[in-house]
Amino acid sequence: MTTEDIMAVALEMGGFTRPPEDSAIFVEGRNIRRVLFGVDVGAGELHAAKQLGFDLVIAHHPAGVYIDEWKVLLRHVEFMTAAGVPEDVARAAVADRVEATKLRGQISNVDQTPSVARLLGLPFMNIHAPLDEVGRLRMRAEVDRVLAHDHPRVADVVDALATFPEMRRAATTVQLLHGDPARPVRNVLIGHGALTNGGYPVAKACFAHGVDTVVYIHIDYGELQRLRAEGRGNLIVTGHLAGDSLGFTPFIAELRKRGLEVTTFSGVIEPDR
Ligand SMILES: [Fe+2]
Ligand SMILES: [Fe+2]
Repeated sequence: MTTEDIMAVALEMGGFTRPPEDSAIFVEGRNIRRVLFGVDVGAGELHAAKQLGFDLVIAHHPAGVYIDEWKVLLRHVEFMTAAGVPEDVARAAVADRVEATKLRGQISNVDQTPSVARLLGLPFMNIHAPLDEVGRLRMRAEVDRVLAHDHPRVADVVDALATFPEMRRAATTVQLLHGDPARPVRNVLIGHGALTNGGYPVAKACFAHGVDTVVYIHIDYGELQRLRAEGRGNLIVTGHLAGDSLGFTPFIAELRKRGLEVTTFSGVIEPDR
């Protein structure tokens, strides 16, 4: 397989027609057989991969903040409007984070890690939103199954998410960080697959417009404190590596099915290994 073929597999699984702005092939490769796949990859990891004879390194997280990766944050607007939040409210809820990410894109040295891959002559790419979307869809299906039951409660959503093998294998636990486990749930937004979590503004906009429960894979403490101060809604977090790994499992299985030898490291939770 080529690096392009591998990107195409991820795009198709995540329902993308082209690579989003947080995913890229930095050093192309062909006849790939041995792949090293990890959440975070820097220069040291690339050196190790070269020494160990891998043909390709795939990182999940972007190698720096790419100039246009703020566009991926706008996926939060799609998720919010699908859950019933008015579009102007949804856009306003991501505006600050969009601005901050645009600035980070100006600051970041996005060539640092890719330049090491070029020096080593080692194929290197990162796949972010497409794999997160695979994970979001798995969570969505599980939550929809819960919502189809009679009188589902917040605790039922927590339990359902905690049942994923990736969550069970993780060092973290699925937690209700804010809200009440006994409350009924009707409208749950999964805020994952949009570069990063939506923080306080996205959750607040959701709670003001008919969404009772928001699921993130992580949230900063300051943002959580602001949500707690308002007292509205329920917020569940899955844990970062557990939530990210939900999207990795089907992708890695697909690469192995196509004959690639995939070794995982740097935070990937493989439930069956
Ligand atoms: Fe992710
Ligand atoms: Fe992540």
